[in-house]
Amino acid sequence: MKRLSTILMSLILSGALLFSGCQSSTDDTDDNDDSTAKIQVTVVTDATWPPFEYVNEQTHAIEGFDIDLMKAIAEKGNLEVTFQNVAWDALLAGLATGQYKVAISSITINAERAEKWLFSDPYFNAGQMVCVQKNNTTILSHNDLTGKKVAAQTGTTGFIEAQKIEGATVKSYDEIGLAFQDLMNGQIDAVICDTPVAIDYVNANPDKIKKVGTAFTDEFYGISVAKGQTEILARINQGLAAVIADGTFDQLVAKWNLNP
Ligand code: ARG
Repeated sequence: MKRLSTILMSLILSGALLFSGCQSSTDDTDDNDDSTAKIQVTVVTDATWPPFEYVNEQTHAIEGFDIDLMKAIAEKGNLEVTFQNVAWDALLAGLATGQYKVAISSITINAERAEKWLFSDPYFNAGQMVCVQKNNTTILSHNDLTGKKVAAQTGTTGFIEAQKIEGATVKSYDEIGLAFQDLMNGQIDAVICDTPVAIDYVNANPDKIKKVGTAFTDEFYGISVAKGQTEILARINQGLAAVIADGTFDQLVAKWNLNP
């Protein structure tokens, strides 16, 4: 997984260098030129996925790695962003119809989704992880889930993986936090979700749950853009390359403790 992400990052980085080359040659262009005017976009997110996107209980603000990243991208990519919290299933449906133009929500790039909307360059590798109750001694990896009660957020890649398990009863949840509640209450045997999210819940409840095995898929997050919004997509990719090149991306990874 490390190696893949290294390759990925160097790919993005070379793109970033190329881009910064282009940018310096256009530095002198007229500021009133239409192509340099900020584009305003509402970015939707399902803020139930810490530490990537969640609602701060005190301030009610939407926070997380994705939110910081999107703000940084907007600054470099000449976009003005505001965030809107929407449910995951509505987010996927709205991207497909073009109701939502942009979403950042830990969205794994896959072939089925790429038929329905556009993706930015990949920005993070987060494979699937299994969590069980702390005192569980029989489930040591995803291979031990046969015939078990397995939970995931509806319509996520974790849910897709859960459905592949032979004889498993798959329980699906609108929010992953509710799945972790049921795991702690002993209603289900395991939760499958993105590794950084699994780590976040385990760190918050270390005496109740644990993760088992290692990430068993390789998945890359991309920012989703509705079909036809190619100028916005180009600006997002430019902004992403720039925040990777100038070290902002790594600072955010450290801030959100994503590479412990
Ligand atoms: N990476 C997974 C997927 O794309 C889960 C993402 C869920 N994100 C969220 N904000 N609830 O299916």
